[in-house]
Amino acid sequence: MKESAAVNRVNRRDLLVGTGALTGGAILASAGFSNAASTAGARAATQLPGYDAGAGEYVLPPLPYAYDALEPSIDAQTMQLHHDIHHAGYVRGLNAALARLAEMRASGDFGLVKHWSRQAAFAGSGHFLHAVFWTNMAPAGDGGGGEPPSELADALTESFGSVEAFRNQFSAAARSVEGSGWGILAYEPVSGRMQVLQAEKHQNLGQWGVVPLLVLDVWEHAYYLNYQNRRGDYVDAFWNIVNWKNVAERLSAASS
Ligand SMILES: [Fe+2]
Repeated sequence: MKESAAVNRVNRRDLLVGTGALTGGAILASAGFSNAASTAGARAATQLPGYDAGAGEYVLPPLPYAYDALEPSIDAQTMQLHHDIHHAGYVRGLNAALARLAEMRASGDFGLVKHWSRQAAFAGSGHFLHAVFWTNMAPAGDGGGGEPPSELADALTESFGSVEAFRNQFSAAARSVEGSGWGILAYEPVSGRMQVLQAEKHQNLGQWGVVPLLVLDVWEHAYYLNYQNRRGDYVDAFWNIVNWKNVAERLSAASS
């Protein structure tokens, strides 16, 4: 990585630490949601409104391509069910959980605060990760697949040793998620480096303060119609539709 880029990242890290901004707000900003931490760059990178400020509710962002655009890596029926049913369910769940928590504040009865806080974490993380996931993909040969642009490749090499090493670690992490979850490439403002994480369900095993850049849904609803039990084949096919430009934009927004 060029020294100037590294310096910029250090400055960004210091700024975040100094303002106490190392919270889930960074994740929200990365996902393109209205938030005090959002920046014009983050919004431009995501191009997906997941929140209707006028209505005060989270909303389902449209897919940035047709249901069948990612075939044969991901079939049209899976995409339609995944986006229209599963993701929509997380949006409804998040709105419902926040409404119940607001009712508790009004009534002063917090007897179910543990339940609805858990629901907010589950549905909210599901909403945010799916919103990132859709933009992380593009049709093969039309923005999807291939190799990352040079600046992103340099950053991946700095963090993981090589692009291939990153790809191997990410694939292994995604394949081996226990039960339902995600493989996640995230930017860590504290160090200015990237790391690969797993998430179980949507909200478990995460780290506070990191910004998701590239996420792969390995819930069975993401692949079972076409791949059945062959999660590894689905993970391999994912590389044919990765939208590296989107990943690079997310890294730029998170680190500058
Ligand atoms: Fe999903």
